[in-house]
Amino acid sequence: MGSTEYISTVGVSDVPEGEVVRAVVAGKEIAIYNLNGQFYATEGLCTHGHTVLAEGYVEGDLIECRMHGGKFDIRTGKALVAPCTVDLKSYPVKIEGENILVAVPQDSVEPRS
Ligand code: FES
Repeated sequence: MGSTEYISTVGVSDVPEGEVVRAVVAGKEIAIYNLNGQFYATEGLCTHGHTVLAEGYVEGDLIECRMHGGKFDIRTGKALVAPCTVDLKSYPVKIEGENILVAVPQDSVEPRS
């Protein structure tokens, strides 16, 4: 049985509007985004080639991977542009004061290959 709890990550002011930052939560690489003042979180590694998504580019509601130009919907994690075909997991976010909290399931740590 896994549990999901909100874990404090970075500060609201650490993620400017239209930006993405990298964080590690419960040993997992995640990406945190600010779209017009709304915060979102997804898995932090591209499902195509495990590139860090926070090194990519936010374009509207999409994150573009810097490696091969694949794109995902930031709000849902859905893979939208080739070569990406596997969706990102997206995680619930809540704001407490100045902190961004992200709920990453504790039992979803995938084995590294
Ligand atoms: S590693 Fe991200 S598009 Fe290939």
